[in-house]
Amino acid sequence: MIIVEKVVIDGVELRLSKPVEVNMDWVGDDTLIKQLRAAWMKVDEEDLPLNPRILGKPGVGKTTLAYAAGKSLKKPVFLFQASMDVRPEDLIITPIIAAKNEIEYYASSLVSAMIKGGVCVLDEGNRMSEKCWASIAPLMDRRRYVESIIAGIRIYAHEDFRLCTTMNEDSSTYEIPEYISSRLQPKIFIEFPGRVDELEILQYNLPFAEKEILEYTVDFLQNAHVHDEPYTVRDGINILRYYMKLKASKNEDYHELSIPDFKDSMIHILDKSSIKYTKGKYEEYMKRREKDILIAFSKIKDSKPMPPSFKVLHDTEDSDDNDFNDDELSDFDEKDDDDL
Ligand SMILES: Nc1ncnc2c1ncn2[C@@H]1O[C@H](COP(=O)(O)OP(=O)(O)OP(=O)(O)O)[C@@H](O)[C@H]1O
Ligand SMILES: [Mg+2]
Repeated sequence: MIIVEKVVIDGVELRLSKPVEVNMDWVGDDTLIKQLRAAWMKVDEEDLPLNPRILGKPGVGKTTLAYAAGKSLKKPVFLFQASMDVRPEDLIITPIIAAKNEIEYYASSLVSAMIKGGVCVLDEGNRMSEKCWASIAPLMDRRRYVESIIAGIRIYAHEDFRLCTTMNEDSSTYEIPEYISSRLQPKIFIEFPGRVDELEILQYNLPFAEKEILEYTVDFLQNAHVHDEPYTVRDGINILRYYMKLKASKNEDYHELSIPDFKDSMIHILDKSSIKYTKGKYEEYMKRREKDILIAFSKIKDSKPMPPSFKVLHDTEDSDDNDFNDDELSDFDEKDDDDL
């Protein structure tokens, strides 16, 4: 935490942390920025800003969106990285024993944003426990304050203070209790971007990459999105970065697209099975799926009772009427993996 400024509240001196200044622009569709800004608006003196919750797959751009939306309000933006180890006092004020055994009080980035009238992004908020959320519940309703038991003070949020949180869904997250969930509204969902936006995002993040390679990456990502694979633009950026480094390390031109090297990078960033979504492989993969579906239908027609393979297919939760589950297609994946 970088400390810049001191303020005194009810006789207690607090050291404030500094807002974050990074190049993190939101590229592409600005509908989501508008949704966030609308949630933060006050339409009347008596109105209160909402505390939106940004949801989406890992790497889809949640933190980027929150930061960029905060910056678009021309306010200082503070990021608080939540984790399982965060304690309620870490969210508010932490005492530190300084020289001469004196206690100094350090305001968290959340409290610093409250005092400075900035935006606080509680990043990956559902990684922290209910106790932490409980300590800031009053901040998210009409009261707009937090209390520090350690410093013995109550801190009211500045009129301009705004809050949002980002959330992930994985095993290291907590269920958010209902009384907190109802304070973290509205929900803003980030979906996979379309082709044009995805290309623009890659270009923004890797302005030194050749267009042909960027387009090859977008083809891969867009094909994977159709199948709701968890591959996001962050994976695309990492594949590209590693690809260019691999090429440069071999003294080869990283502006040229070499498909074997690109696939090599994909294997190291993702896995072998991701390769079926690359241009060329994807068309083969879809033809194979089509063929398998036709075979399955002809089996239904010809045989009574229903063959077990068809039953499995239709009993599987993931499969839909025209779809095969991954096991059914594993032969193809293996064949694909050997054929890089
Ligand atoms: N619309 C966008 N504009 C610019 N960059 C983007 C956009 N979407 C994603 N990115 C880039 O994708 C990468 C991942 O974004 P970010 O870290 O915001 O994702 P996240 O959803 O917060 O991920 P996590 O769930 O792991 O926290 C970053 O490098 C970011 O620059
Ligand atoms: Mg994030």
